[in-house]
Amino acid sequence: MLTTCTTERQAPAGVAATANANANANANEHAGAHLTAELSDGLGACQATISPKFLYDALGSKLFEAICELPEYYPTRTEAGIFERHGHEIARACGMHTTLIDLGAGNCAKAASLFPLLRPAQYVAVDISTEFVSEALARLRLRFPHIDMRALGLDFSSGLALPADVRAERRLFFYPGSSLGNFTPAEARAFLTRLRKSCGADGALLIGIDLAKDKAILDAAYDDALGVTAAFNLNVLRHVNRLLGSDFDIRHWRHVGFYHEAAGRVEMHLEAREAQHVRWPGGGRDFAAGERIHTENSYKYRQADAIGLLEQSGFEATRVWTDARCPFAVIHAQALA
Ligand code: TRP
Repeated sequence: MLTTCTTERQAPAGVAATANANANANANEHAGAHLTAELSDGLGACQATISPKFLYDALGSKLFEAICELPEYYPTRTEAGIFERHGHEIARACGMHTTLIDLGAGNCAKAASLFPLLRPAQYVAVDISTEFVSEALARLRLRFPHIDMRALGLDFSSGLALPADVRAERRLFFYPGSSLGNFTPAEARAFLTRLRKSCGADGALLIGIDLAKDKAILDAAYDDALGVTAAFNLNVLRHVNRLLGSDFDIRHWRHVGFYHEAAGRVEMHLEAREAQHVRWPGGGRDFAAGERIHTENSYKYRQADAIGLLEQSGFEATRVWTDARCPFAVIHAQALA
């Protein structure tokens, strides 16, 4: 991979970019200064990166829903199968009338499938895609009118400040879909430690963690035959164009997704099909043909390592449910005093 690095920085990160972006308000979504700074810093780095949270604009959230329907993308289906097969035991481990806090709720379907068994006292749907989750919650209220619900548009990767109307008792953080794998192990530990603090003394965690498996299965899951995953990954450039005012031409990029066995993770990148210059207010960069923008990692843990990670973060794994055919673990973990 080529790593030529020719960034223009006409002003400190974010300063000029924000001023110009604001002048150009109709062309973008009024991205806050911290987001435009984060984006231009990432794009300007020698190894260019775009944070995976930018994958989930309105279209990105829909494309991810489509990914979950693909035969190649096993995590959602495998996890749903575990919830279905072991729902009663899972509910027994979690207990009823909890404050169910759904991290990355998206369309809220996973939590909703557990409502009849879990009977939460309150349901808090947290997602970075505020509009998407609010709409999902509005539909859910009609189906479960007796559950107190609220949507929270929040980037919980950078902090977990919950508003005062989120009940403090019996918090059950729900973190399905193996999103934990999108952090590095060190970041995952830091994130889980923050969760532990937000749990209170009687809190717990119900988490889905994808486990290491055959490379061929993982390669296909992250680069499907229809190209839905490619569309999902490439769509981030459209979102960035709107937020930052950049001029990425999507046709000049292709999706790359593969399992890096030695690193224990799937890597997602966007690769330049040809040499090009990309501009944004206050900055810009040359990309060589073949140069990549890193968009996401998805770590695949061994079960013992996943449990170890929870323990190092102040949780005790009390129950583990797995799928024998397709390694994936759903873990209930109690916050340690
Ligand atoms: N967090 C999901 C995962 O790791 C998201 C995902 C699926 C994804 N396919 C992708 C992210 C392709 C970027 C590119 O499974």
